[in-house]
Amino acid sequence: MKPNIVVTSRTPPWMQALLDAEFTCHSLYGVADRAAYLASLPSGIRALASFAGTRVEAALMDALPQLEIIANFGVGVDNIDLDAAKTREVIVTNTPDVLNDCVADAAMALVLNTLRKFPRAEVHLRDGQWAARGPYPLTTSLRGKTLGILGLGRIGAAIAKRAEAFGMSIRYHNRHRKEVAYPYDSDPVALAKNCDVLMIVAPGGRETDQIVNAAVLDALGPTGYLVNIARGSLVDEVTLLQYLQTNKIAGAGLDVYADEPRVPPEFFALDNAVLLPHVGSATLETRTAMGKLQIENLVLHFAGKAVRTRVM
Ligand code: DGY
Repeated sequence: MKPNIVVTSRTPPWMQALLDAEFTCHSLYGVADRAAYLASLPSGIRALASFAGTRVEAALMDALPQLEIIANFGVGVDNIDLDAAKTREVIVTNTPDVLNDCVADAAMALVLNTLRKFPRAEVHLRDGQWAARGPYPLTTSLRGKTLGILGLGRIGAAIAKRAEAFGMSIRYHNRHRKEVAYPYDSDPVALAKNCDVLMIVAPGGRETDQIVNAAVLDALGPTGYLVNIARGSLVDEVTLLQYLQTNKIAGAGLDVYADEPRVPPEFFALDNAVLLPHVGSATLETRTAMGKLQIENLVLHFAGKAVRTRVM
């Protein structure tokens, strides 16, 4: 018999097929009365498959008293109440590494599109402006610029490697200094002061909440660019919007927002921002690898073995 698991959100058909091959899934997606639904499930459910973007709170853990493992789809686990999981001795797993290349590719696309303004240049052509008014205005080169990486983990390192190939210099700030050749800045303000493009790659959560604030944006200054491929929670979004509207920074490339999928509509009017809908890891290959890793952790746990990618 397949083990019963709870799934927190709607999953695409290919992912649901992978889950259904191993488990009997009970989805919380679209459930109006969650308490009643959870109470109606077979007793003894030991596992939860969660997805970045859906919250896993203490109340949900309490409604599943036999819960042993939360297997998250996504490297970031800021959607999970980790304190509550720890108190209840629930294992939490994530899906690291398999997404590094795709997220780093997306980060570089944001750097390119923000500095070189390729999306706007294409609109210039499609709107007939090239023929009617002449060439698109000159933009800004990557070569010779400094990329400041806020959070030099595995994804940050993959971005650094790519940015070097584009002729950029790298420096970084991290909670812990790394044994790397890149210059280190002791805080985000110093990093912003010393770079042209500030790349946010640090994890979301309490410790990093709004660490990119007015002081950091002031340090970045009117010729500096911000790129966020991590989590919207790291940025004071209201202040960022004001700084973009008043050109207090040169531009921003954003894949993530404070309250996804809701993006303040004022951002849509900005011509100095490139906006993506949280697609950093969104390729079929990478998302399939993430799904398989999430499921592997669950299967290992049900087999009484150690999981592969344990966060806590
Ligand atoms: C992650 O893995 O945390 C990504 O942001 C999800 O796409």
